[in-house]
Amino acid sequence: MNYMKLLITGGAGFIGSNFVHYWVKTHPEDEITVLDKLTYAGNLSTLDSIKDKINFVEGDIIDEELVAKVMTGVDCVVHFAAESHVDRSIHDPYVFTRSNALGTHVLLETARRLKISRFHHISTDEVFGDIPLEADWKFNEDSSYKPSSPYSASKAGSDHMVRAYAHTFGLPITISNCSNNFGPYHYPEKFIPRSIIRLLQGENIRLYTPGNQVRDWLHVNDHCRAIDLILQKGKLGETYCVGGLAKGISNIEVAHKLLKIMDLPEDRIELVTDRPGHDVKYDVDWTKINKELGWEPQHTFDEWLEQTVEWYKNNQSWWKPLAEESEQFYQTKGEEVLK
Ligand code: NAD
Ligand code: DAU
Repeated sequence: MNYMKLLITGGAGFIGSNFVHYWVKTHPEDEITVLDKLTYAGNLSTLDSIKDKINFVEGDIIDEELVAKVMTGVDCVVHFAAESHVDRSIHDPYVFTRSNALGTHVLLETARRLKISRFHHISTDEVFGDIPLEADWKFNEDSSYKPSSPYSASKAGSDHMVRAYAHTFGLPITISNCSNNFGPYHYPEKFIPRSIIRLLQGENIRLYTPGNQVRDWLHVNDHCRAIDLILQKGKLGETYCVGGLAKGISNIEVAHKLLKIMDLPEDRIELVTDRPGHDVKYDVDWTKINKELGWEPQHTFDEWLEQTVEWYKNNQSWWKPLAEESEQFYQTKGEEVLK
C-alpha cells in the first residue's frame, strides 16, 4: 500500500528522526509532517539537513485541537512520540502516563474521527516484563503483558488502547514491539551513547550493578526497515515483534566491547547503584515478521557498535549541548558510585 501523506509523531527524537531521514530517502514522493513537542529528548537540529523536505510542527500530542489540525488530510500516522527513559519514569512518573497513555489516546480518537487509513503504533518489548537470566525463551507476539516500570506500564496502556480502538471502532492499526535500538542521534542518557560520551570526555562508564543484565540490541536502521515493511505489507490489526542479531550480550560485555573499540583499559568502568525494579533480560523472537514480511536484521552488533562510536566521535557538536543535561539528571536522581 502506498501512502502519500504521513504524520510522524516524535520525529525529532532518536528513532523518529532516523525514520524521518529514512523515509525522505526511500519515499521521496511522500509528504511528511512531523509533530513533536521538543521535550529535552527532541532536537530539531537532527532534522536540519532535510528541513526543506518536511513540515515540522512543534506541539504536544495531547493537544486535541492541534492534533486534529495536523492530522487532517493525512493517510497514515506513524506514532513514535513518548517519554522513553526508564530511569526518568522512576524519578518522575506522571509525565509518562500523560504523554504515553493519554497522548496516544488523543491521537487514536482523532484518527478514528478523521477516518485515517493506517495508524502504526511504535511500542516496546518492555511491555512483556523480563526474562530470567538462565531461561532460554523469548518474547513473541503471544507473550503476556507484565510491565515493570512506570515507563513500560504506560506503553502497555497505550498498546491496549490501540487494540481497543481496532476492536471497538475498526480503526486500521498495526503495532510493533521492538527491542533496544542503537545508532546515531541516540540521546546521551541511554546506556550506549552515555558510555561512549563519558569515555570520550575522559570519564568512566557507569555500569548499573552487577552489570549482568542482558538486552537485545537492534540497529535503528533495521528498525526503520521493519516499520516500512509493516506499513507496506503488514496485516491490519496485527502486532509484529522486532529484535536484533545480538543475542545474550550483557551490559558488562557491551562495556568491554566499547573499551576495546576505543582502545582504552578495562578498568574504565565504575559500578553504580542499580535501577529499582531493573529488568534483567530482554530477548525478542522476530520469526513472525521474518516469515510473513521477509524482514531480518542486517546490521551486526560488533560492526555497528564500532560505527556508532565513530558517529559520536565525529558529531560532538550534536551531543555536547545534550550531554550536560543528561548527566545533570543522573546527579539529581542521586546516582552513587559503589567502586
Ligand atoms: P526519544 O526519547 O529519543 O524521543 C521521543 C520524542 O518524542 C522526542 O522528540 C520528544 O520531544 C517527543 N515527545 C515526547 N513527548 C511528546 C508529546 N507529549 N508530544 C509530542 N512529542 C513528544 O525516544 P526514542 O528512543 O526515539 O523512542 C521512540 C519510540 O520508540 C517511543 O515510543 C519508545 O517507547 C519506542 N521504543 C524505543 C526503543 C529504544 O530503544 N529507544 C525501543 C523500543 C521502543
Ligand atoms: O527494550 C526497549 C527499551 O530499551 C525501550 O523501550 C526504552 O525506551 C529504551 O530506553 C530502552 O530501555 P533500557 O532501560 O533497556 O535502556 P537503557 O539504555 O536505559 O539501559 C540499557 C541497560 O543498561 C539497562 O540494563 C540499564 C543499563 N545501564 C543504563 C545506563 C543509562 C547501565 O548499566 N548504565 C547506564 O549508565
